[in-house]
Amino acid sequence: MTKPIRRLELAGADVKVFSKPEGACEAAAGKIISSIPICAMVRGQAVLGLATGSTPEPVYAELVKACKSGLCSFEKVSTYNLDEYYPMGPLDPHSYRSYMHRHLFDHVDIAPNRGHVLDGTVPEHFAAEHAALFDRWIAADGGLDVQLLGIGRNGHIGFNEPSDLAVDKALKLPTRLVELHPTTIADAVKDFGAEGLVPRHALTMGIAPILGARSIVVLAFGEHKAEAVARSLRGPVTAEVPGSLLQTVPGKVTWLIDRDAASGLL
Ligand code: F6R
Repeated sequence: MTKPIRRLELAGADVKVFSKPEGACEAAAGKIISSIPICAMVRGQAVLGLATGSTPEPVYAELVKACKSGLCSFEKVSTYNLDEYYPMGPLDPHSYRSYMHRHLFDHVDIAPNRGHVLDGTVPEHFAAEHAALFDRWIAADGGLDVQLLGIGRNGHIGFNEPSDLAVDKALKLPTRLVELHPTTIADAVKDFGAEGLVPRHALTMGIAPILGARSIVVLAFGEHKAEAVARSLRGPVTAEVPGSLLQTVPGKVTWLIDRDAASGLL
């Protein structure tokens, strides 16, 4: 296992800086792999909150490798994904449902009814009900054991975008339908091919269920994430930088980042 080159305690979080993203992804996968049998033994299953995007892809590759070599099993795992574009069909290659099948679900022994992704096909007038149900499923499964997060250039976590909400209100945000921020839309152009093809809305797990996880692992790589990382860890707690809301749950957040993403901290 690759060792971090720096370790900092910042805003109640454990921050580990790796020379390369690979080391951080190995550490994230290791944390998930070691938590599964413990949670399964204590509570009958492990409940994982999962992220999509380019950042966690190597984490899923590590998990698949571990499962294929018998070091890990998803038989007693339930997963809840952070978000899904809206509207979005599950078979669309741009959907986060298809991302999860490509990177994880199709390669591990997870039961088909245990890999939960918000449904981008629900009628708009039932989106709030669907989102509320998602939070109830998480609660009924005993809450999230480990939540894996990436962070947007604008500091978003899940698709909880920057806003002028008061902090106490932001901390209560449930899973819901949201409008995507211009930076998020601009960053999605590489996946969709043109700005006009990027959905304007998404269903996202709320700040409340994310922060309710027993343990949170945040990954961030590259210089383009440095500002969001620094504002999340060194800046004031504000809904303008959703990543900074992680400061309100000291002791349970681990940041696994590379040297470039850490450049605003060191
Ligand atoms: C994805 C998600 C987003 C991403 C973030 C970073 O499920 O919730 O918050 O983690 O936009 O995306 P990448 O990893 O593509 O830079």
